[in-house]
Amino acid sequence: MRVLVAGGAGYIGSHVVADLKEHGFGVVVLDNLSTGHQWAVGRVPIHGVRTNDYPMVKALFRNYKFDAVVDLASYSQVGESASDPMKYYQNNVEGARTLMDAALSSGVDTYIYSSSAAVYGNQMSAREVDRLDPINPYGRTKRQVEEMLEDYHAAYGLKYIALRYFNAAGAWPEKSLGEDHQPETHLIPKIVDAMLGRSDGVKVFGTNYKTLDGTCIRDYVHVRDIAAAHRMALQYLQDGGKSGPINLGSGKGYSVLEVIKAAKFVVDRDFPVEYVDRRPGDPDVLVANIEKAKETLGWRPERNLSHMIWDAYQWHRDHPDGYGDKRRPGR
Ligand code: UFG
Repeated sequence: MRVLVAGGAGYIGSHVVADLKEHGFGVVVLDNLSTGHQWAVGRVPIHGVRTNDYPMVKALFRNYKFDAVVDLASYSQVGESASDPMKYYQNNVEGARTLMDAALSSGVDTYIYSSSAAVYGNQMSAREVDRLDPINPYGRTKRQVEEMLEDYHAAYGLKYIALRYFNAAGAWPEKSLGEDHQPETHLIPKIVDAMLGRSDGVKVFGTNYKTLDGTCIRDYVHVRDIAAAHRMALQYLQDGGKSGPINLGSGKGYSVLEVIKAAKFVVDRDFPVEYVDRRPGDPDVLVANIEKAKETLGWRPERNLSHMIWDAYQWHRDHPDGYGDKRRPGR
């Protein structure tokens, strides 16, 4: 099976590409490298095309015979989506529509979409059938694309799975793949930076949330488990599986303070912690119900929070400049 992976040079995308390659899939990457890293795709062919550039995307479908599309080509910073929503609607919504149109008009009817827990808003044990209530433009772009997929499925028979990622974390140190965002905003890499003495410490954003210790609760899931789910979703659709959304989380929630405590224990390193005001747009609690992923895909997370912290720590320790100074590998 030959798969076009849009956004394949990004954090999650590069893990998807490596996982698909490891399982014998043919992979071509579409990524304009606005946030991704060329090094992260190894020797896989990469095309620096914008997803919302229809003629260029269409040309790519003419040049290769794809069997499926995996679309991870989204901007994903919640704060930025509030200050510059146009960028998010143009790229996340227009880009996905262009890709879907180009796929359908080229006879490709299988689409795996990277959606997000952000479609739920604030929720404990979120199920796919629950009402969607995104609280920021980023989450709304994800909901809009999911609605488009549903309509394209009903009208044109596009087969799709929208994978709703909860909090992706971890790395794949053996393949030199990890998380390199500019700027980095996510909790676990921020903790790792503090442990490695690359920052003054970790700031805890808000201590008066409606949770037991007052800090936000999230559902962390290993990026390699997320990657495997894309492959399983492709196989599921190929075997006649039903289109729709599927949550990818661990089903367990950890508060910010619990993650900090776990990190100190796993790596056995201390670091300063400072308590500051809330960050705008953060829901109190966001945890997945993952029964559907288990029942439909046969997927379950194989790695826990300690693995995520340890893998992230190893990758950041060994890549002090992220992907900054890397040559292309022989993968
Ligand atoms: N946090 C801190 N200090 C930090 C960084 C984060 O206290 O330095 C807290 C946040 O306030 C939040 C938790 O740690 O409560 C997790 O924050 P992350 O930034 O790691 O992740 P988010 O939950 O904000 O973001 C994730 C995805 C987004 C998605 C969002 C949906 O990365 O793509 O969930 O809510 F939109």
